[in-house]
Amino acid sequence: MLGACAAFGGSLQAHAEANRVTFPKLDELVHYTTVRRGNVTEHISTTRAAIEAIQKGLTVPNGTHFVLADYRDEKIYRYFVMEKGAGWGADFDERRRTGDWQFQWYWPDRQINLKENTSRCMSCHSSQKERGYLFTGGRLSEFRGKPVE
Ligand code: HEC
Repeated sequence: MLGACAAFGGSLQAHAEANRVTFPKLDELVHYTTVRRGNVTEHISTTRAAIEAIQKGLTVPNGTHFVLADYRDEKIYRYFVMEKGAGWGADFDERRRTGDWQFQWYWPDRQINLKENTSRCMSCHSSQKERGYLFTGGRLSEFRGKPVE
């Protein structure tokens, strides 16, 4: 969270931050799309409630997780997680904020990648502001149970 810098002595060095994101219960999520690039395969999942909301044109509920499980040569390499919570945007100043979404990078053992600064995640996903900060949310309109590719 912002403010952590000051707590650690005012260092301006970009560093990883623990934030409000929690590792999701993967077996409760629905795999709705796969993105493949060379040896990289990304399986993207979210909750049933989020899928229903998006398919009805509603905003996704608080408590929603989106997970991008990044496989390299068929082996899990890392998990990218977005989670939304009531008022979570207020942890960040206006320029950085991505609605009420926060982001986190987890290794396969579910430890946070302490070398990542999640402002990079937020900055790139900001480009999707008009689409609820999601890059692949639009694929849900054609999702009927089989992951869209
Ligand atoms: C340079 C741009 C960029 C950055 C930085 C980035 N993402 Fe993404 N993200 C994407 C794109 C593009 C997709 C769609 C899948 C694809 O094409 O690989 C995506 C998809 C996702 C998804 C699936 C939901 C969706 O939006 O479709 C999650 C979850 C996610 N990213 C989390 C993260 C996290 C966590 C970080 C930081 C550790 C991060 N992203 C950094 C561009 C980015």
